[in-house]
Amino acid sequence: MKHWTLFGCGALGGVMAGLLAQAGHQVSLLRTFPPQQVPQEVKHPLLLSWWDLEGQHHEFNPDFLQTKDAANISLLLVTTKVYQVQVAMEPLIGQLPEATPILLLHNGMGTEAWVKRAFPANPLLIGITSNGALRLSAEEFRHTGSGETWFGAGNAAGNDWRGVVDVLAQALPHAAWSDEIRMKQWEKLVINAIINPLTALSGETNGSLLTRQEEVEALCHELMPLLQREGFNLPEEAWVSRVMAVAAATASNYSSMQQDLVAGRPTEIDYITGYILREAQPLGLHMPLHQQLYDAISHRSPIASGISNFSI
Ligand SMILES: NC(=O)c1ccc[n+]([C@@H]2O[C@H](COP(=O)([O-])OP(=O)(O)OC[C@H]3O[C@@H](n4cnc5c(N)ncnc54)[C@H](OP(=O)(O)O)[C@@H]3O)[C@@H](O)[C@H]2O)c1
Repeated sequence: MKHWTLFGCGALGGVMAGLLAQAGHQVSLLRTFPPQQVPQEVKHPLLLSWWDLEGQHHEFNPDFLQTKDAANISLLLVTTKVYQVQVAMEPLIGQLPEATPILLLHNGMGTEAWVKRAFPANPLLIGITSNGALRLSAEEFRHTGSGETWFGAGNAAGNDWRGVVDVLAQALPHAAWSDEIRMKQWEKLVINAIINPLTALSGETNGSLLTRQEEVEALCHELMPLLQREGFNLPEEAWVSRVMAVAAATASNYSSMQQDLVAGRPTEIDYITGYILREAQPLGLHMPLHQQLYDAISHRSPIASGISNFSI
């Protein structure tokens, strides 16, 4: 049994917290909002509720931690949105014990470098997940889709924490260690960079891409030189097939970017397409189609407070 501190109790964090509590782990929820900014409805929740994949209802009582409790955190699982990572973690600088591993679990890429600078001694693990989760209210969550969760080392000290992923595997539908986590992040990034903006702009489900294969092909084609530089030797058709397979497997789902745009929330575009464009720029690689998607989504998304002032 471990004592997990979940940081970012939204859809994914709420379900992860529920799964860990159900497997017998101690779960605390950390908030680093200044007290005056903690949303009123989540100030004193006594009981969190969640529904598992079979529709079974569970309840659990987590402890609530604030920045002042950071010295007691022994394992930190960060499940905020990618653009919230820096702002949320800044108050922990100099407060979090150096031995505490940080597990980052979000879509998109680009937070790692800052976390390494801000917490240079802490073991860092980087993760991705394809589980589906919904936040029904501040205190209610639903596990909507089973998926795979992969973690790998973000720094040398992270390698010593492989065992913690075996612990996660006892609670989640699947969790495993990968020595090639960067490649796995890139695979997810490519899928997100195509499905998310296309469906967000059309307002349609992922399945709508099954009739838009030519656009998927053109977007994959633009990515090929960058993917080759990243060390992938998969042919272009294989990337197209992967994207189309995910669109088919999640045909009735609305992508998170589509849902964020509809709800008027900031999107993760800066860490998905934005990350790709920032990687491509110094290599002199031009990606006009991805740039168009980036511009169109950015134009329609509210600005996230945090580090989204990238120049592209
Ligand atoms: N949901 C899914 O099915 C799913 C699946 C795979 C991957 N992901 C990825 O997982 C990440 C999280 O997604 P999500 O859907 O769970 O987002 P979400 O529901 O918006 O959850 C993020 C949570 O972090 C909280 N937070 C932000 N700053 C905080 C702080 N300083 N202290 C404490 N809590 C803070 C937010 O609180 P406020 O809402 O009050 O700001 C929110 O509850 C994203 O990168 C997403 O793409 C999600």
